[in-house]
Amino acid sequence: MSDTLTPVLTDNWDTERAWTLASYEERGGYAALDKAFAMAPDDVINAVKESGLRGRGGAGFPTGMKWGFIPQDNPKPKYLVVNADESEPGTCKDIPLMMASPHTLVEGVIVSSYAIRANTAFIYVRGEVLHVIRRLQRAVQEAYLAGHLGKNIHGSGYDLDLIVHAGAGAYICGEETALLEGLEGRRGQPRLRPPFPAVAGLYASPTVINNVESIASVPSIIVNGPSWFAGMGTEKSNGYGIFSLSGHVSTPGQYEAPLGITLRELIDLAGGMREGHELKFWTPGGSSTPLLTPEHLDVPLDFESVGAAGSMLGTRALQLFDETTCVVRAVLRWTEFYKHESCGKCTPCREGTWWLVQTLAKLEKGEGSEADLDLLLDQCDNILGRSFCALGDGATSPISSSIQHFRDEYLAHLTHGGCPFDPAASTAFS
Ligand code: NAI
Ligand code: SF4
Repeated sequence: MSDTLTPVLTDNWDTERAWTLASYEERGGYAALDKAFAMAPDDVINAVKESGLRGRGGAGFPTGMKWGFIPQDNPKPKYLVVNADESEPGTCKDIPLMMASPHTLVEGVIVSSYAIRANTAFIYVRGEVLHVIRRLQRAVQEAYLAGHLGKNIHGSGYDLDLIVHAGAGAYICGEETALLEGLEGRRGQPRLRPPFPAVAGLYASPTVINNVESIASVPSIIVNGPSWFAGMGTEKSNGYGIFSLSGHVSTPGQYEAPLGITLRELIDLAGGMREGHELKFWTPGGSSTPLLTPEHLDVPLDFESVGAAGSMLGTRALQLFDETTCVVRAVLRWTEFYKHESCGKCTPCREGTWWLVQTLAKLEKGEGSEADLDLLLDQCDNILGRSFCALGDGATSPISSSIQHFRDEYLAHLTHGGCPFDPAASTAFS
């Protein structure tokens, strides 16, 4: 394995039956609990602040700062909710993490709940992944039996109940406030923010919502210390992260490396692009982040540098497409997804994503005229910044960025009277 990789969360993935409590404990699992219980809860929060850990769900909000927003003078119960509703096209890090090492997440939940003084925590899992739900339920059961969960954990006087909650399979429930609606038993639609969940979240109580990978990173920070974590990555994007490579690359999969690694380095680690082909375009963080091109191969994959390159680091879901892929077709497929998943609450997204699909489908078939490209950008302008939540904004990213980088390819569809690509040559959207 290359020196560039820093396996921490992925360290035990190749171990036989890594998901069992016995295997996890054999490798030092649950050592963070006693260390955390020996600290005051605020000191645990300060350690996470010092580590520089930023939210791994995509937005990169500082985790320790979010925990610090929980008003401890509020007499209501506090809750921790893990967002395990991973559904962004291309994103595939949380699900393999929960399958291979569910106890890393459970341990992270216990330490994080202790820090924010929560006695009840939830893992909200995407409903379609039954195998993951079963694995988590089993891990939680094992943790209760071993005294890692429940009353007076490790004799510390601290109590915690952890509930695994299965969603019903809607992409919008990954949006934190729609997730809370779902958890409370209502239809998943976003709430107005502010108030942010830290102030009024689940049952209107102070609630921390963090991504799976963020919470799973906490035990390693407590065991190794905040400066160990802060020493990896770049100045403002600290630590390691799981990069998921998919598409036209020789060895797709999850590569755990310090933030700031480049796509060129990751492609090398993954054995290169598929033989005889070259990178044409890629997404840094799933389909809602603007497309980048080979010109961006050496951009450090950290929050700041990817932003400066005109995109977003997002979930580090790197989808790679070679020269056989029609960018218009790829963008149409993603846009159909957003239209399908729009929750319908606000007009710009509900109506706008429908219109985006109509206009894109027309262009993809080689119908219409160059004026339809401007119409498409105008439709994006009427959604971006005018939607109630990030889903609407995200739907416009692949469209506007693909027109910016590949306008000629859109025009080629018009002159060709349809798609100029051989659909048999690409495996990306078959
Ligand atoms: P956001 O930037 O609005 O918020 C990020 C987090 O910080 C939230 O938990 C929010 O409650 C908290 N926060 C922000 N300002 C706050 C304040 N003033 N006080 C208290 N808390 C505050 O981002 P958002 O809309 O929650 O998430 C968007 C991101 O989600 C995108 O960047 C995208 O990459 C990612 N995403 C991930 C998906 C997945 O499958 N993992 C799917 C779709 C999008
Ligand atoms: Fe619902 Fe889309 Fe509006 Fe978000 S932007 S509230 S998903 S309709």
